[in-house]
Amino acid sequence: MAKQKSNESNITVVLWNNEKSAVFKSLSKEIQQHLQEERKNKRDSVVIQSPGKWEYFFFADNGDLSPRTLEKWRSKGNDIQSLANGNKQKSVLVKGEGVDEKISYAFAEGMALGNYKFTKYYTNAKERALSLEQMYIQDTHLSEAKQRELFTLVNATHLTRTLVNEPVSYLTAEKFSQEMVSAGKEAGFTVKVLRKKQIESLKMGGLLGVNKGSIDPPTFTIMEYKPAKAKNKKPLVLIGKGVVFDTGGLSLKPTPGSMDEMKCDMAGAAAVVGVMYAVAANKLPIHVIGLVPATDNRPGMNAIVPQDVLTISDGTTVEVMNTDAEGRLILADALVYAQKLNPDLVIDLATLTGAAIRAVGTYASAVMGTAPERVMREISQAGLEVWERTQEFPLWSDYAEELKSDVADLKNLGGGNAGHISAGKFLEHFTNYPWVHIDIAGTAWSNQSQGYRSKGGTGVGVRLLYQFLVKYYLGK
Ligand code: BES
Ligand code: ZN
Ligand code: ZN
Repeated sequence: MAKQKSNESNITVVLWNNEKSAVFKSLSKEIQQHLQEERKNKRDSVVIQSPGKWEYFFFADNGDLSPRTLEKWRSKGNDIQSLANGNKQKSVLVKGEGVDEKISYAFAEGMALGNYKFTKYYTNAKERALSLEQMYIQDTHLSEAKQRELFTLVNATHLTRTLVNEPVSYLTAEKFSQEMVSAGKEAGFTVKVLRKKQIESLKMGGLLGVNKGSIDPPTFTIMEYKPAKAKNKKPLVLIGKGVVFDTGGLSLKPTPGSMDEMKCDMAGAAAVVGVMYAVAANKLPIHVIGLVPATDNRPGMNAIVPQDVLTISDGTTVEVMNTDAEGRLILADALVYAQKLNPDLVIDLATLTGAAIRAVGTYASAVMGTAPERVMREISQAGLEVWERTQEFPLWSDYAEELKSDVADLKNLGGGNAGHISAGKFLEHFTNYPWVHIDIAGTAWSNQSQGYRSKGGTGVGVRLLYQFLVKYYLGK
């Protein structure tokens, strides 16, 4: 994703906005006339094709920068990426002048985000890899610094997708923690991995309980990026559900069906890694700590059973009514750990409930929390801006009633309705700080490619939180 050295590219895109611009004037009279005629007919895109060469002209209306329109620009960027890869092209040249920065940015973003394919396990991986390697962007409004920031953010999103796409045969909890160490080295953040002994001494009964059916040990990974001139006095803490595979445990999930995509159950954790990567590599002046409790959830001989009682690290006892509601158990220990960090704000990301999918489909992530109104509003706004939409749900005390157990402080299962909210309510019990919970069960994984959101892991959460952080802490 380098900058241009030459203009040699068989696919050229011109984002144009007015006839006085140098980009427009550099076109032949014929093409200029053609574009003007098409504009009169209200057509905003024109293709001129000769064998092995494609020239695309998009008219950019700077007056319409609504989130939905910017999403259309991402989609157009993705179309070009798809054309390039479909024709085995190595580079694309995009020229823009006078076009609003947001439009050029969205176009480049869609093009780069779409240029992703997980090919690791094909024996002929090289042949099946995408051909597009370079996107040359010559745009008067989109600065080089902004382009670099964008491409780092896209790489971070691709890292998250790859982690999600890795099956548990490779990505055990231990391997996952090592991947975090590598990401830290590359992007510039510190990583500390707690192993089973330390997890035991911290009495993380939720994480250890879920791990009991597994033959692979759990990990608890702490990532930290602490720049010298951080704008926040207290750290922002991100927590990600890191269930590297969720079989349901003894409350086994049926297959075919609900188990088939469960390698994605660490997508929250993978998104936290992506955000850490982007923030650190782009050197944002924000102090961020990422916490990832990781294990698989399996029905081994020693696995927890319904009615078992686990003790979370703060002493809270939980009656396990369904071993498939494991995410909240491991998150509880992480939320308790965050209490010691004196956080400014804690945000957790988790593929937590099927109920979140039933509530909003796969179009949005379900959000709830106790953070101030401004935080909730800005998360929602960031969601629209990057088109990783969110929908807020209430955390009324009524839902806590459903979590009462006959024998312990809590049970891990709510009533039959609004399961995403009772799960959120369960998590709330372990917080004593401003907190936001984002249930990405519906958005983390896609069975078919939806434009630039490739099939498999979508990388959801990375751009959402990056955008939120930049606005909330840096006011950009
Ligand atoms: N990992 C699942 C939730 C999930 C479902 C994620 C579909 C992605 C797609 C979670 O651990 C789970 O099994 N939740 C149960 C909870 C229930 C037993 C209370 C669910 O939602 O069915
Ligand atoms: Zn589960
Ligand atoms: Zn799960």
